[in-house]
Amino acid sequence: MNTSGFKIGGPASSSARWVATTVDPRGDEFHVAIIMDGNGRWARSRDRPRRAGHAAGATAVRRAVEAAPGLGITTLTLYAFSASNWGRPRAEVDHLMRLLGSHLRSESDRLAEHDVRLSVIGRRDRLPDALRREIEAVEARTRRGSSMHLRLAVDYSAREALLAATALLAGIEAPSRESFGRALALAQNAPPGTRNVDLMVRTGGEKRLSDFLLWESAYAELFFTDTLWPDFGKDELASAVREFHARDRRFGTLSPAVGGGRAPSVPFGRELERE
Ligand code: FPP
Repeated sequence: MNTSGFKIGGPASSSARWVATTVDPRGDEFHVAIIMDGNGRWARSRDRPRRAGHAAGATAVRRAVEAAPGLGITTLTLYAFSASNWGRPRAEVDHLMRLLGSHLRSESDRLAEHDVRLSVIGRRDRLPDALRREIEAVEARTRRGSSMHLRLAVDYSAREALLAATALLAGIEAPSRESFGRALALAQNAPPGTRNVDLMVRTGGEKRLSDFLLWESAYAELFFTDTLWPDFGKDELASAVREFHARDRRFGTLSPAVGGGRAPSVPFGRELERE
């Protein structure tokens, strides 16, 4: 059964290859965030320059985006460039900026064709003008996409966003979680109404969050894998999703089996619109 909303079969177009997988999407909203780590080590293990690792990483991004709707993922947030990444050698930073721009340019048709909405979260004022223009063009083109929301975090720092949100609320004596969430969305340039992170995946063997979506991941399930990002594919994403569905999410309550209620995952920003 194709529950992904994507065409299966038919003409051998690229859309025919965006196929459903063996994980049954449950029809609920499902936000997966990924810290894509290991491009450099992937390149080094092949005696190739780091930029070859980033290029292979961009191909892995395409694979993950293609597979995600079929796995029931409704929002996918990828950590493409952290605020601390500015500290890398100039040549690598420039390469990553160009790669992001060319990726957006080359993926724009596919995203639109597959009804995927793309947003970029993070600061924009430090990005090269050309990249900013690409971002605005793809966002405008895909803004009505409804099969999945793909968010790329670029020049992103959760701590900076939390500080900026706090500044926005200065003078409000006791901000609610909801008003804070709204301020945070504004501070990190994120569309409001995005659900909290359900599943946080990190590739490349490290086990840390590296300043990524700290508020939104308060109750996220964590999945760490040694697989280097360029080797990460549909099967491993499906395994992570399967493991997620097998876990008992209690949100601080008790399991229903022993009399606990099940606190719902609060849709991030959704309730803010009602405020
Ligand atoms: C971490 O690998 C990865 C990054 C800093 C950038 C992520 C970029 C991509 C996946 C490619 C481009 C992205 C898009 C959306 C087109 P690392 O360089 O830190 O690897 P290492 O820890 O092995 O050195």
